[in-house]
Amino acid sequence: MADQLIIFDTTLRDGEQSPGASMTRDEKLRIARQLERLRVDVIEAGFAASSNGDFEAVKAIADHIKDSIVCSLARANDRDISRAAEALKGAARSRIHTFIATSELHMEKKLRMTREQVLEQARQAVRFARNLSGDVEFSPEDGYRSDPEFLARVLEVVIAEGAGTINIPDTVGYAVPELFGHFIRDLRERVPNSDKAIWSVHCHNDLGMAVANSLAGVMIGGARQVECTINGLGERAGNCSLEEVVMAVKTRRDHFKLELNIDASQIVPASRMVSQTTGFVVQPNKAVVGANAFAHASGIHQDGVLKARDTYEIMRAEDVGWAANKIVLGKLSGRNAFKQRLQELGISLDSEAEVNAAFARFKDLADRKSEIFDEDILALVGDESVTAEQEHYRLLSLSQRSETGERPHAAVAFAAGSTEFHAESDGNGPVDASLKAIESKVQSGAELMLYSVNAITSGSTESQGEVTVRLQHGGRVVNGVGADPDIVVASAKAYLSALNKLHSKAERVAAQG
Ligand code: KIV
Ligand code: ZN
Repeated sequence: MADQLIIFDTTLRDGEQSPGASMTRDEKLRIARQLERLRVDVIEAGFAASSNGDFEAVKAIADHIKDSIVCSLARANDRDISRAAEALKGAARSRIHTFIATSELHMEKKLRMTREQVLEQARQAVRFARNLSGDVEFSPEDGYRSDPEFLARVLEVVIAEGAGTINIPDTVGYAVPELFGHFIRDLRERVPNSDKAIWSVHCHNDLGMAVANSLAGVMIGGARQVECTINGLGERAGNCSLEEVVMAVKTRRDHFKLELNIDASQIVPASRMVSQTTGFVVQPNKAVVGANAFAHASGIHQDGVLKARDTYEIMRAEDVGWAANKIVLGKLSGRNAFKQRLQELGISLDSEAEVNAAFARFKDLADRKSEIFDEDILALVGDESVTAEQEHYRLLSLSQRSETGERPHAAVAFAAGSTEFHAESDGNGPVDASLKAIESKVQSGAELMLYSVNAITSGSTESQGEVTVRLQHGGRVVNGVGADPDIVVASAKAYLSALNKLHSKAERVAAQG
């Protein structure tokens, strides 16, 4: 029987550490549910001790997710580990993931600790974590740049203390595949009790080799867990991309000979949800999930694919969740049909009030757009204004005037709590005028760091525009997303959605280290 490869998703922890990718508790819960549908083995839900917001997110995910193991990161100290255990209390299956740096550089410059102190702290941390959880993972941060002999001593000790998973991070993305594979293999040979743990790899993508390094860790090194993120989300150049590792192992089963629990048909919906939530757009030529990943432009390729798909396709688009743009509902569809379609798309809204709000928005959209696709529905439920009653700022109406040779002008009405505001402004363009009008009343002082527009469904100017706005204020970075057939309206919604996040008190303290 083929070995199992464990897929450990860290989109909600390491992925979220990417500046600008921070997510609210509800956004994280929505993504966790999608990861469960994708059937990832482990969901790293966050870093419970880093902030109250992260604690609440880990707790909510632990309370809701039943099929995947829910994990929290914790530095190697009692406080962090207790906090992780506390957040994970409600989980059906949980894991504490504790870490401490082991490279000379990190120990000397960052931790200011000796080797013996680090070794002792790792031992105590795993011992403490094992008293609180039967499933403990240990990571030596910057493991790949650590002295293998010292690293092996640390790993022997933590395995003896009961760490069931040993994860080797290439924290700075310095590895190359062959060397990394041999590094893992040699390490396993050096550690006398290595067979008592599952070995895992965690690669960053600074040199664009995170996927190749992870697979070398598996094939040469014998690792049986890969840590990865949807769309390769993560700090700097990101983490190892889940969809690429999964599809490599599935498509080249002849070579890898490994089993996966993953339901690949949930990959594209997961990719879309992460990109929409974080505002990190997927590049069109990205493997598996890019808009062009299955598009054949050249005549020779098109001809070949029409005659026999496998002339130029090694995977089937539908197997990874690319549905042909399907008209699902229209103006005359009722609430039950809408609810059923939500279910088919794997979307569970928490309350009847949320279903009602989403349905009202669907009707509104159907009045203005003749064909409603699955993507429109996904955007609609992802839209912050579905839960409008919980939001402080809400768009009420917008009108704008632009004409060649004239300076554009916008008039916006929006609610802030129970107060209604009417604001007007000129601007360089209608979007600029609308955002300036809102800002003239809110006076957030936030700096606009990113503004991007995408068509939700490709190939038609009738598509809804999906706008992402990233704002920075007082050290916090938030994303707002808004969708509408009118991109000026979508922009105003996105701006108000970002302001709502700034308005919420959830602060994040130290991210890591
Ligand atoms: O990259 C890294 O070293 C990490 C560890 C905390 C696992 O993310
Ligand atoms: Zn990492």
